[in-house]
Amino acid sequence: MKVIIDTDPGLDDAVAILYALNEPRFDVQAITTVAGNIGLDRTTDNALRLASVMAASVPVARGAARPLAGAGLSEEAIHGADGLGGVQLPDPLAEAAPDAVALLAERLMAEPEGSLTILALAPLTNLAQLRRQHPEAFLRLKGIIAMGGNIHEIGNAGPHAEFNLAADPLAADEVFASDVPVTLIPLDVTRKFRASPADLVELRDSGAPAAVTSAALIEAYFTGSARESRPLHDPCVMLLALDPALFGCDAMHLRVDTVEHPGRLIPDETRPAIQVAMRIEAEAVKAMLWKGLSR
Ligand code: RIB
Ligand code: CA
Repeated sequence: MKVIIDTDPGLDDAVAILYALNEPRFDVQAITTVAGNIGLDRTTDNALRLASVMAASVPVARGAARPLAGAGLSEEAIHGADGLGGVQLPDPLAEAAPDAVALLAERLMAEPEGSLTILALAPLTNLAQLRRQHPEAFLRLKGIIAMGGNIHEIGNAGPHAEFNLAADPLAADEVFASDVPVTLIPLDVTRKFRASPADLVELRDSGAPAAVTSAALIEAYFTGSARESRPLHDPCVMLLALDPALFGCDAMHLRVDTVEHPGRLIPDETRPAIQVAMRIEAEAVKAMLWKGLSR
């Protein structure tokens, strides 16, 4: 499966990236970064270091430093100032390319139409810019699988919205209004997917670099003496991409509030339907993630 990962690593992004780089069913063509959790320099450096963990020569390209409009948000409180909860990763083996949108357009025009999927783990600024600047390339996408939003769940960027959508609501609204197939994985599903301390022992016992590094990253993702980690939001994107049968999706017609509660999802029958994951086989999904990290 040819994919490009759009990301703001970020502890849960980091586990998702390690899994995708370690899973032979993914052909990761590039990693594009966006400011999101803790600023573009940090997220880009973290993406390069994650590629180093896997000795992967995957191109990394810098994307948007700020949202299409407004100032953006930060999740430093969750991910720490370094974005990785203090977990030390190896130095980057390469430099990042300067322009994520140019790289996305180049890859989309080079690959057969309908063969590339974006795995979107962050605010959707890069994808909205791609659609604005290179509409013909954007429409060659096979699809976009994105973590974001909240349907019945209370938000995590204020009560009405989820971080990835709240950080750039205009970008999300423009991407969801496009004709490219979108599958959205909201907090309603991701909050059901967490790790326990025993799960981390299993990862460490495997000895595999992706698993051992992920155990350290997830350990940093616990809050205090909690019995389980914060939700493993972003890995859900990779796992749904490979095995959608482990998730249950409903078609919804939605627009994104950009005014009253930025990032809130509002039903709007004039919009094209997007698939929204509302159910997850959490234990089977965890077994698949753990297996892919441990190989
Ligand atoms: O709301 C969860 C999302 O915001 C995840 O992508 C996580 O990385 C945070 O950035
Ligand atoms: Ca993220």
